[in-house]
Amino acid sequence: MLHGRKIVLIVSGSVAAFKALMLVRLLRAEGATVRAVLTAGGARFVTKESLAAITGEAVQDDLWVAEAEVGHIRLARWADAVVVSPASASRLSQMAQGLAEDLAGCVLLATRAPVLAAPAMNPAMWAHAATQANVALLRQRGVRFIGPEDGAMAESESGVGRLSEPEAMGDAIRALFAEGPLKGKHVLVTAGPTHEPIDPVRYIANRSSGRQGHAIAAALAALGARVTLVTGPVTVPAPAGVEVRRIETARDMLAACEAALPADAAICNAAVADWRVAHETDQKMKKQPGADAPTLTMALNPDILATLSKHASRPRLVVGFAAETEHLVEHARDKLARKGCDWIVANDVSGDVMGGAENTVLLVTAGGVEEWPRMPKEEVAARLAARVAEALA
Ligand code: C5P
Repeated sequence: MLHGRKIVLIVSGSVAAFKALMLVRLLRAEGATVRAVLTAGGARFVTKESLAAITGEAVQDDLWVAEAEVGHIRLARWADAVVVSPASASRLSQMAQGLAEDLAGCVLLATRAPVLAAPAMNPAMWAHAATQANVALLRQRGVRFIGPEDGAMAESESGVGRLSEPEAMGDAIRALFAEGPLKGKHVLVTAGPTHEPIDPVRYIANRSSGRQGHAIAAALAALGARVTLVTGPVTVPAPAGVEVRRIETARDMLAACEAALPADAAICNAAVADWRVAHETDQKMKKQPGADAPTLTMALNPDILATLSKHASRPRLVVGFAAETEHLVEHARDKLARKGCDWIVANDVSGDVMGGAENTVLLVTAGGVEEWPRMPKEEVAARLAARVAEALA
């Protein structure tokens, strides 16, 4: 599916650089041509010779070698996509600053092709405010990200920092070339429940599976959209080719959504907890013999849908969901007005909808109410994605 695509792969300094070799094999097996740029850091982990052997192309590692032919510009123009994998903390910082001190930096500044970065670093380095600020800035400039994933690190620590696996990278690279009516559009989707902590071991949750929201993200991506999926703790898999932000609380979800703006559309499907526990305790609450059960004081959570609907960078189309057990249309109309969104997809959750495979919904807009028949959640998603494409056309 990558037949004839020309990909520049920038390999920067991280233990995970060996995975670049596996990625090259996968891309070439799909028909892509890959030219590798090895940074000074990357060369500490993989050799130029192995990259050359695996890509079947000369590996570039020096800005000054081909300067008579302005090699960095030629390489930047040649590329249909530039993939930075692994992207070290240092490389992300250089990218955010627009540094052009080596070949990789020059290619990244000169390219007009889409750029995908796959970060890999120690979890503390990833979580650091400096790295997060660099990533946020790069995202705003249109750089796409995949990972990092949660898992074990080479240094016997574990956390979020592992390079994504080559198969997931392949999905993300294919998504760079996705064609369809939503090509060039960015859509934000929220999905799943939120977990609101009570103490370090207990939390408040709900029965949302994330299935409908993940299906919507997949359907939008299938129409060519760049999709950011902000999802709560769920077990359904992340759709291929979608940028996933995993969060736990409503406040995390709001922060991730705001960081993902600007977007052309936002589809708020998450079952966000309306309340959180006002005072989360640092230590596990202890059961005292003979004492009464504790009383939890709740605090209001931010309303993400309402916040996005009146945001300074409001997406052109904002869609909310209404899970109701009665008076569907009235509640949906009320929600449309109260939250300031454009459409409400109302569903009756009195049956087996939450966690189930099918959904019966009403689409409520300023123009009227449409009743959709009961259908698989994937079909609801496909129909909704098609309507989003029409609205953004
Ligand atoms: O007010 P209610 O929870 O019924 O509204 C449901 C809609 O609002 C859904 O689209 C849901 O994703 C969104 N919502 C939200 N943030 C909240 C509560 C609900 O985005 N705190």
